[in-house]
Amino acid sequence: MRGPLNVPRSPQGHPVIAQAGASEGGIELAARHGQIIYCNILSRPAGQAFAKNVKDKAIEVGRDPSGIRIVPGLVAIIGETREEALRKHELFSGAGSEDGLLTRFAKENGIDLATFDPDAVLEAERFVPDQNRQWAVGMGLGLSELLTYEKLTARQAVRRTEGHHRLVLGTPEQVADQIIDLWEDGTVDGYTLQPPRAPDDIEEFVEKVVPILQDRGVYPRDYDGRTIRDRYGLPYPD
Ligand SMILES: Cc1cc2nc3c(=O)[nH]c(=O)nc-3n(C[C@H](O)[C@H](O)[C@H](O)COP(=O)(O)O)c2cc1C
Repeated sequence: MRGPLNVPRSPQGHPVIAQAGASEGGIELAARHGQIIYCNILSRPAGQAFAKNVKDKAIEVGRDPSGIRIVPGLVAIIGETREEALRKHELFSGAGSEDGLLTRFAKENGIDLATFDPDAVLEAERFVPDQNRQWAVGMGLGLSELLTYEKLTARQAVRRTEGHHRLVLGTPEQVADQIIDLWEDGTVDGYTLQPPRAPDDIEEFVEKVVPILQDRGVYPRDYDGRTIRDRYGLPYPD
């Protein structure tokens, strides 16, 4: 609405704007307004291409890209061993077994089970979502972008993604390694944790993975700043 607002200015200047969605229109919205960008990044090359796309478009519309944080969803499933994490993945997903994960994959992607070979290399083009489909285009792009840069079979792909987000499976150390991996070279600025079960998986992550991240010097031991803007290190608006 026009005219002054009769409330005090927010301590954050204006609320931080989080954006999600990666169709052409979604990227345009991210470039113009997004500060925290939720997205589906399943690999390093896909993440670098996504961040470059958003930041290049932001520059085109006259924005400073240093005010953009790429924080993809992350599903972490922790076990005493990687094998245990794999079994937990099968249970938490509701699929029950690896065969269940593969059947779900085939159904979700419209693949005929009669001819489905879970050990054949998947073709990325087959998984590119229609830009005009009725539900989030961005959600579908994660898989097609993953397959663009890596040759994977369905058996491998079902262990790389859950709920369309990046899946990391293993011991707390293995999970921490995978988290740091895409973060330390700046591919991502952080993550949006998507625990399969709440609060159990949040507690387990806090108890087992966060101390490792702290010991490695990549996660704070104390809260710094008062606002979410401070915590994301985002600039204050004039
Ligand atoms: C909290 C929240 C998180 C979301 N995360 C994602 C996401 O990571 N990826 C995505 O494609 N859509 C996500 N969405 C959904 C999109 O914002 C929404 O479906 C949008 O219309 C999709 O736009 P698109 O077709 O441009 O991808 C999220 C929505 C909410 C409310």
